[in-house]
Amino acid sequence: METKKVILSGIQPSGSLTLGNYLGAIKNWIKLQDQYECYFCIVDLHAITVKQEPKDLRSKTLEVLSIYLACGIDPEKNALFIQSHVPAHSEASWLLTCSSYMGELSRMTQFKDKSQSQGESIPAGLFIYPVLMAADILLYQTDLVPVGQDQKQHLELARNLAERFNNTYSPTFKVPDPYIPKEGAKIMDLQEPTKKMSKSSDNPNSFILILDPPEVIRKKISRSVTDSIGIVNYSDDQPGIKNLINIVCAIRGITQEEVVDMFKGKGYSEFKSYVAEVIIEELTPIQEKVKELISNKAYLEEIYKKGAEKANYVARKTLRKMQKKIGFIQ
Ligand code: AMP
Ligand code: TRP
Repeated sequence: METKKVILSGIQPSGSLTLGNYLGAIKNWIKLQDQYECYFCIVDLHAITVKQEPKDLRSKTLEVLSIYLACGIDPEKNALFIQSHVPAHSEASWLLTCSSYMGELSRMTQFKDKSQSQGESIPAGLFIYPVLMAADILLYQTDLVPVGQDQKQHLELARNLAERFNNTYSPTFKVPDPYIPKEGAKIMDLQEPTKKMSKSSDNPNSFILILDPPEVIRKKISRSVTDSIGIVNYSDDQPGIKNLINIVCAIRGITQEEVVDMFKGKGYSEFKSYVAEVIIEELTPIQEKVKELISNKAYLEEIYKKGAEKANYVARKTLRKMQKKIGFIQ
């Protein structure tokens, strides 16, 4: 029997998920789940690299799992698990940390961005974060990692760490490839469309949450920053409009030209109403399913326990190999 190629990806339960998480990550996972053996995790160990309120972390972790399921990830086919339930991630992360360089970690743009808001006390976890991500990926002998554009640099590091370990000892890890969608790879901030949309932004008008009600989505899209050109065009000179076009393309699977054609001779307000309705139509059924799932704690527990069991089995095997090659007595 031909074995399926392996996919792994994860999202941090550090806040409510945005339309960026949905279009850059989850929506693509759905497409891939039939052809690949998939591991989708909720990366709580990553979330604590910045301060988290314990009760919020608990509720967001289950919310993210409910969103995965509501978006259509099939728990029968895929392993859905919580990162901290698989101790091999923390252990492998330390082993890889010992062969990572300060220089390469200092060059990570996400570290530079996130550490800026931490004042004098930058948590060391924020610096090591990409090594933990490499451990997540390499433990499963992953072939493909579906992520948004912002994770490309972290993936490059995971590849380098895999190659370094393979060269220092002997072939141990598969060297993973990124899978970055054409549309939706980078959904931008609605208020500052040159920055990526992020759940950690202070201004709620800058992002759309997967769980935002319709009236909130209409309001946020109508307030989104555009320009004074007044023509719906796909151009770098109109980053706000370009972003809204990208959102429509990623949801509907149509081309930029098709969207531009639809709005020839029409104004921004008509275009924005259309964009809002496209988003609402996509998110409403997901929101209804999340409401049902989130109250069914026993069902969620069954899924994450089963997921962790499968993940633990595979991850432990790779960890043992690493320990043996490094020279640890087993
Ligand atoms: P995070 O919220 O940082 O845990 O990101 C989880 C996943 O969502 C990663 O694959 C990111 O690349 C993706 N993602 C986050 N924000 C965006 C965005 N604005 N546009 C596209 N993808 C995103
Ligand atoms: N660092 C990723 C992000 O912020 C989340 C993540 C952690 C991840 N581990 C991963 C993504 C492994 C893909 C694979 O988006």
